[in-house]
This record gives sequence, C-alpha cells and structure tokens, in this order.
Amino acid sequence: MRFTRRDFLKISALSFCSLVVSTGLSGCGNSSNVVDVNFLHGVASGDPTQDSVIIWTRLTPQSQIDTLNLSYEVSKLEDFSVLVHSGDVQTKKDDDYTVKIDLQNLDAGTIYYYRFKSNDKVSIVGKTKTIPTNPSQVKMSVFSCSNYPNGYFNAYMEASKIEDLDVVLHLGDYIYEYGMFEDDGVTPAYATKNATAIGRELPADNDTELLVLEDYRKRYALYRTDEGAQQLHKNVPFITVWDDHEVANDTYKDGAQNHDEETEGSFIQRKADALKAYFEWLPIRPYAQDNNEIIYRSFEFGNLVSLYMLDTRVLARDKQLSYSNYFNQLGEFDDITFSSDLLDSSRTMLGSEQFLWLQSKMSTSTSTWQVLGQQVLMGKMFLPAELLTSISQLEGDLTDEEKLQLLTQLNQQISELVAIKMRILASDETLTELEKARVNITLPYNLDAWDGYFYEREVLFGTANALNKNLVVLAGDTHNSWANELKDSNGNNVGVEYAVTSVTSPGMEDYAGLTTLETAMSFEGAISLLIDDLKYTNLNQRGFMTVTFKSNEVNTTWYYVDNYSSTTYNMDTSREKSLKTLVNTNTIQAV
Ligand SMILES: [Fe+2]
Repeated sequence: MRFTRRDFLKISALSFCSLVVSTGLSGCGNSSNVVDVNFLHGVASGDPTQDSVIIWTRLTPQSQIDTLNLSYEVSKLEDFSVLVHSGDVQTKKDDDYTVKIDLQNLDAGTIYYYRFKSNDKVSIVGKTKTIPTNPSQVKMSVFSCSNYPNGYFNAYMEASKIEDLDVVLHLGDYIYEYGMFEDDGVTPAYATKNATAIGRELPADNDTELLVLEDYRKRYALYRTDEGAQQLHKNVPFITVWDDHEVANDTYKDGAQNHDEETEGSFIQRKADALKAYFEWLPIRPYAQDNNEIIYRSFEFGNLVSLYMLDTRVLARDKQLSYSNYFNQLGEFDDITFSSDLLDSSRTMLGSEQFLWLQSKMSTSTSTWQVLGQQVLMGKMFLPAELLTSISQLEGDLTDEEKLQLLTQLNQQISELVAIKMRILASDETLTELEKARVNITLPYNLDAWDGYFYEREVLFGTANALNKNLVVLAGDTHNSWANELKDSNGNNVGVEYAVTSVTSPGMEDYAGLTTLETAMSFEGAISLLIDDLKYTNLNQRGFMTVTFKSNEVNTTWYYVDNYSSTTYNMDTSREKSLKTLVNTNTIQAV
C-alpha cells in the first residue's frame, strides 16, 4: 500500500490532538523568549471541518531571532475556565514568525475561543466554529479584491458584526503587488492616487512592487493591521483561494502581465515566494507540507453544500488571449483566427488533474448544492463589439478632454444600442440588418475570465448538466457585482453565478466615468438589457455578499458601504439587493 503525504497528514491528525502545520511538529518546553514580542496582527482561523480547524497568529519580535516560543489555549467558554486544547509551540524566522495549528478532535457545529501567549503578552481572543454534522442552513459571507491604498476595509468590519455566519470565503486579491508609483517614480501606481490623502500610503520599506519573499511578507503584515481585517479574522473562520494579485497582475501558469523576466528575474521564483508568504499568512490548510502550489480543496457541509475551492489562476492556466494580437496591419480584426483560438479545446484554466478531481467529486457528492468558490467570472459577458472597442479606448492613457469626448460617445452608443435591443425584443419589422448587427455582433468583454476559456467552460457546464446538479458558482475578480444564469451552448440552464464586488479595489465607475448614481444605474440597466443571461449588476460600489444555503433555496444579498476613504461609514441600504435560486431550477429570481 502506498501512502501519500496527504494520507500521512490524515493519520497524524488521528494520532495527535493538534498538529502544528507551519512550524513542523515540535515538543517545546516552557522556556521564555530572549526578546520582547507582541501580537500586532491579531489572530485568525480557517478551513473548518466537522472536527478540525486551523488557528493562526503571528509574533512580532523586537529583534530578528531564529525561533520564538509561544503557547495556545482553546476553550468552549469565553473566559477559558475549561480548556479543551492547549500546548506549546515554536515559530521560526523562516516562517515569518507565523504559527498555524490544526486543532483536531473537535466537536461538530461548535463555537471555540482561542488565544496565544508569549512571554507576558497575550493575544486578542479569537472565535471560530466547526462545521455542523447536518446543517439546515449554511451562511457564508463572500469577499474579493481588498486593496489597501485605495481604502479602508469597512466591508470586512461590517461582516464581522453578522452573528450567524458559518464561514468567510475570500476569492482572491487579498493583497495587491503594486508599489506607490510606476517605474517613472512619479505616476501613481494602480489604485494609489488617493492613498496619501486618506492615510493609506504604503510604508517606505514596502512601497515598491513586490518581487521577493520579504516584500510579500511585509505586504501581508501591512494589510493585517487594518482594523476591519483584524475583526473579521478574529470572529469568523476563513476559507480562501488566491487570484492573480497575490503574485502579479493577470498571472497564468508560467508568467503574468505584470512580470518582466528581463528586469524582474525569474517568474517561477517570484511565484514560489508569493505563494510561500500566502500560506504563511492565511489561516488555511496546505495541500501538503512541501507543496505551496496546490490550493484547490473541498469542504462538506453535511448533505446541504459541497464547496469546491478552485485555482483558475496559478496552477495550470494557459496564457490569456489578447485582442491586440488579432489586428492586421490595416487595423482589421481577424475574427476567424480569434474564434479558432478562443474555441481551442486544449485551452485550460484548471488543468486536467484539477478538472478530473472536480468532476469526480461532483459525481459522487450527494449534497443539494454544488458550490464552486473560484476567482473569475463564469457567466457569458458578450458585449456588442462596438461597445467593447469604446470601453477599451477608455482604459488607455487619455487627457481629460479626450476622456470626456469618449464618454459622451459611449453614452450615445449605449442609448442607440438599447433602443435597437428594445425594438428587437418587440419584434419590430422595420429593423435594418445593419441595426441588428450592431447589437448581435458580440465579443467577450474579459478574456482573462472564463469567456477566454470557452471549451473548458462548456465541458464543465456539460458535467453539471449530465449530473443534474444544483450548481452555484461564486466569483470575484471584477470589482463589480453580478448575477448570471449559466447556460450551455444548447441553451440549457446548468447553474447560477453570484459574483461579489470588491472590498475597496476600483470598479467600472473608475474608468467608465460612472461617477454619479444616475450614470451608474443607467449603465447597469443598459448592460443588463444587452446581455441576456445577466440578471443583476452593480457597477460603482464596494462591499460584500452573503450567500445562505437552505434545502429549498439559496439566497444571496449584496451589501454596500457608503464610504471607504475613512473608517467612519454607513451601509448604503438603498442599493442593497437580494436574489434567490430555488432548488432544481438553475434560475435567478427576485426575493
Ligand atoms: Fe482585484
């Protein structure tokens, strides 16, 4: 019989009360540290199962030292009068002084309190929860794209106040790799133009683009000083996956848009450093002690929810297609070559191993809801080609005057396209072929999303359809909110998608000129009309969503903060939105 490392971890878990994941097993004494330490980054928990959960903290020593000792205590009671677990562990400089303990043999569906001690310092008390054996409801709050320089993580703070959450899902872009300035040292880098004014400047020892391990570690440490981040981690266990910015913008398996081998060195090394820091700082279970590249994994919430956390980004993704590669010297778009490349059956985001794992898991799962926690939008976001051209022009470097001109043109175009679409829907026989073509000739908006990996998405849809499952896809990445009905090429409804806006990262309002509520709502209405499967979008606000699964329905609510340039905020309840999917319908309806 051949044992894999994963089997070993399972056996170890049965044999020990708790397993120290990131520091290796260590029988430490009670010796005190020779330097002063502090718990500046709070506590966290994650990857709960019915009988285990990871607890996390990080020590900040006053001087660099190889190892530090600390102890932990776990109790069902807030006053720690009766302990269910306790122990001494050691953390190392090599782990950036982070500690992860995989608590074992816990009771299902139970709240636990935990804290750490080192020298005379005691951490704040964290609260976590194991997964119930047979839950009648599972409530998740879902996040993506938290960008420190662009604002305060008020969305995290707000979710930390929700009492009945089972888990937090973070779908990636937990950090961003950019520095304060572009290479010219003057132009503000992505999402940094307001940072100084709002007190969210990157510190001097970490204000350039992240390239090596120490850079990534410092960035996580900075993000974990945010009050909202500390509160949410303290109160609720996280289940996370990375997206691209945990490494570099538009990452794929062996490169990234924001990586230049010539000036920035080996991408493989940069990726290894980035992922090591990720596993140090996020309270999640590694696939294996020596493999920081594999993050996909699954969670079972009784017979109600099977949750599959996928990696569409780092492990196996083929390089993104780019429209700019399909224009000839006359400036004409070569749609035949583009279509052939787009539909290429070998293009992959998941890779065959992960895809087969997912198919096999879904086919044997008896849970009502099959849920994909993953990064990029799966719904078909095909926009009229002329609109796409205008939006892409807006993303370039423009003077204010040029931008205004393009925005005026874009608004005019949208009005015309909406009017034509309304006439199509009303079966207006006076429509000309040219008018129909303006609406019906469409192209995928985002080639970095599932739209750019067409064939693999069809196979996934085919799997869900053949297995007759209730598929719910959760996505982040876009910095805006979306709800899509997922349909295969034959028009079958195979699932639904609920996609979350960003915590702070700028969305479409930033580059499409949606600066007032009126323009945002008019654009939202237009896009919803032009894209058939799109049931909801919010294009100008930051926040999070809760997704609540019950046996007969899943209910999603999007919440929006009214402000993220300070920690004083209110929720914008006027824009809050709830939608639901009834079991066995794969459709989205109003609540
Ligand atoms: Fe993002």
